Amino acid sequence: HYQIQHDLIKPILINAGLSLAGFFLTVKMIPVASKYVLKRNLFGYDINKKGTPQGTVKVPESLGIVVAVVFMVLTIVFQFFNFAPDSNWLVEYNAALASICFMTLLGFIDDVLDVPWRVKLLLPSIAAFPLLMAYAGHTTIIIPKPLVSYIGLKVLDLGFIYKIYMWFLAIFCTNCINIHAGINGLEVGQTVVIASAILIHNVMQIGVSADPEYQQAHAFSMYLVQPLLATSLALLSYNWYPSSVFVGDTYTYFAGMTLVVVGILGHFSETLLVFFLAQVLNFLLSAPQLFGFRHCPRHRLPRFDPQTGLLTGTNDGTLINFYLRMFGRKTENSLCVHLLLVQALGCGICFGLRYLLTGWYK
Ligand code: UD1
Ligand code: MG
Repeated sequence: HYQIQHDLIKPILINAGLSLAGFFLTVKMIPVASKYVLKRNLFGYDINKKGTPQGTVKVPESLGIVVAVVFMVLTIVFQFFNFAPDSNWLVEYNAALASICFMTLLGFIDDVLDVPWRVKLLLPSIAAFPLLMAYAGHTTIIIPKPLVSYIGLKVLDLGFIYKIYMWFLAIFCTNCINIHAGINGLEVGQTVVIASAILIHNVMQIGVSADPEYQQAHAFSMYLVQPLLATSLALLSYNWYPSSVFVGDTYTYFAGMTLVVVGILGHFSETLLVFFLAQVLNFLLSAPQLFGFRHCPRHRLPRFDPQTGLLTGTNDGTLINFYLRMFGRKTENSLCVHLLLVQALGCGICFGLRYLLTGWYK
């Protein structure tokens, strides 16, 4: 192991402190914002409680807006404490924040106006522009070790194509999170698992190379992922079963874009995709309905039986339904725990794969 640069430790700790403050601020603000969104009729009914008294309660929607606002405040204020010697980073950092902010705006617009969902699939492609335009970092991908002898290269420079790859990644990851949803706690829960995996990855990687740029890339990803994790945990405390608030597309889009930006600026976007294993499976199962080969209803949720309180899988192509068909009926709460464990297992596989393909010490 190499030494981690001293000038990185202080900003990482300051960022962690700010994130902790952000957690408490978010916990405090969500009930306040809930009252206001209800007043403006921004609410939803909990579909998996239909037929029980809980199913008639108006649950405040779009509380992701609180997370996004607190996150933006933290990450903007944090710049004051980060004396990066390389101003290129600051340009990219601000471009990343612009993309996240733009995505939050479009997500909130979607929650308020109910954009038709095939149109809404395209919203992230617009929000990704600030990052795509300002990105001046690497345009290379790492070749997995077993393939190096065939290709004769350790890294491959994709040049301009890399930006197109980034663009698709942004569209894919944001929508992926939004469509792996519909049971209490899953939207935020999956983000919390992925963000934790990224944080572990950063901590493990930051000291393995003496290259200051490599260390900075992982530090920068931490500067964004720590506030994301802290504010999301606060939201999860309200969104966990039985949900007293819904997160809205404001949150799913915000979280997806933040994770993409973190993966790109940290330069581990291939690893990020493997952390998204559960989402990729859900996307593959969803493809026939997403691309119009099969009818896609407004909600593709399991069937709830108010008598037993259990959920049964339907024929809609989602990981939730697939899991229920495979492993039998479950309560909403235990189903969410199971799916989050599947998510964590996927991240574990990712750490294993990384070790096998590129080695810990890349
Ligand atoms: C996506 C999914 C949709 C799923 C929905 C659930 C696709 C193409 N779209 O749509 O199948 O039903 O997410 O969020 O896969 N809700 C609950 N319990 C929850 C979370 C949400 O009942 O734990 C319901 C509430 O009525 C809430 C509504 O879903 O108001 C929010 O749906 P929204 O996020 O707008 O749906 P989409 O993202 O368009
Ligand atoms: Mg949604």
